[in-house]
Amino acid sequence: MKHYKIAAIPADGIGPEVIDAGLQALDVLARRDGGFALDVTHFDWGSDRYKKTGALMPDDGTQQLKGFDAIFFGAVGAPDVPDHVTLWGLRLPICQGFDQYANVRPTKILPGISSPLEGVGPGDLDWVIVRENSEGEYSGHGGRAHKGLPEEVGTEVAIFTRVGVTRIMRYAFRLAQSRPRKHLTVVTKSNAQRHGMVMWDEIAAEVSREFPDVTWDKMLVDAMTVRMVKKPRSLDTIVATNLHADILSDLAGALAGSLGVAPTGNIDPERRFPSMFEPIHGSAFDITGKGIANPVATFWTASQMLDHLGEPDAASRLMRAVEKVCADGVLTPDVGGKASTQDVTDAVCEAIRIEN
Ligand code: NAI
Ligand code: MG
Repeated sequence: MKHYKIAAIPADGIGPEVIDAGLQALDVLARRDGGFALDVTHFDWGSDRYKKTGALMPDDGTQQLKGFDAIFFGAVGAPDVPDHVTLWGLRLPICQGFDQYANVRPTKILPGISSPLEGVGPGDLDWVIVRENSEGEYSGHGGRAHKGLPEEVGTEVAIFTRVGVTRIMRYAFRLAQSRPRKHLTVVTKSNAQRHGMVMWDEIAAEVSREFPDVTWDKMLVDAMTVRMVKKPRSLDTIVATNLHADILSDLAGALAGSLGVAPTGNIDPERRFPSMFEPIHGSAFDITGKGIANPVATFWTASQMLDHLGEPDAASRLMRAVEKVCADGVLTPDVGGKASTQDVTDAVCEAIRIEN
């Protein structure tokens, strides 16, 4: 039997609630399948630790995670700690330290969940957004001078490297090639940003030659928001920079019904380091502790994690169970239902147990 070592970092807000739900479903899956076991180690890193010790994780945090097969992450952020401190104190050091350069965000409308787009239902919106996750606008390059004075300056420099753009483009073309539609949309803003973004366009054209069976088109990011809303069926796989894809994937989550159903994998495609799987949403202070957080995004990212670990059957079984439970109308309030996190979790676990 295969044993996978999983590092669970539930962190803040609803993070612990949804990660607990995800681990319950994974446990039932592993028992049912019998072919694998998950050895889960819990890490109490996050904002509470920061308030006690001044750091969200220990100095050797990434060192401690190195030996794991995957990381199962909740959300980080607290109302009384600045967001740039929490993000740069935990999530980004893991993404960047482990060179998880491909951020993969599938979106589709699940049965039983309605999209805010009129006349758009399951099957009409089935996308994967690939977000460059190691550089670009989130390189952390910049600074502030003359702090607090009228002449204060702040810079935030976007860094695009040929290596960084080529590898994400190759990943996106390969992913598009593996999907039935074999279509990739490359998003930039190369009219206004005429250096790094023009390089993106050029590298896209170069890499496309390696994938003659994949069709592709280009969009400016502002026009892309319109296409996502007006012509969702025209899109399949999408690749964009760190910032652009961050924004587009929140929109994608909302168009698919709720941020509470949107998952993400932070992948090191070369498998030198553990990859990290998490729901897209944050710590959602407004619903923390109420027991109504939607666990579907976390189930879906758990399914991504199983796929990455090499357990595709268990991964699909989990998604079939989630789709059945959504279709049956066992839904949390964010998607129009009355069920609690635990109701949905129980229903998903039961669906896994009883499936033929
Ligand atoms: P958020 O994603 O936490 O919440 C936005 C809205 O969506 C809220 O109304 C929330 O109740 C709802 N929502 C989110 N997840 C849900 C779920 N599973 N079920 C039902 N409803 C859900 O984003 P917000 O409010 O901008 O940020 C809150 C904190 O989370 C901030 O500190 C922010 O920095 C952090 N954050 C962390 C992320 C991460 O750890 N990857 C990602 C995004 C935000
Ligand atoms: Mg975001």
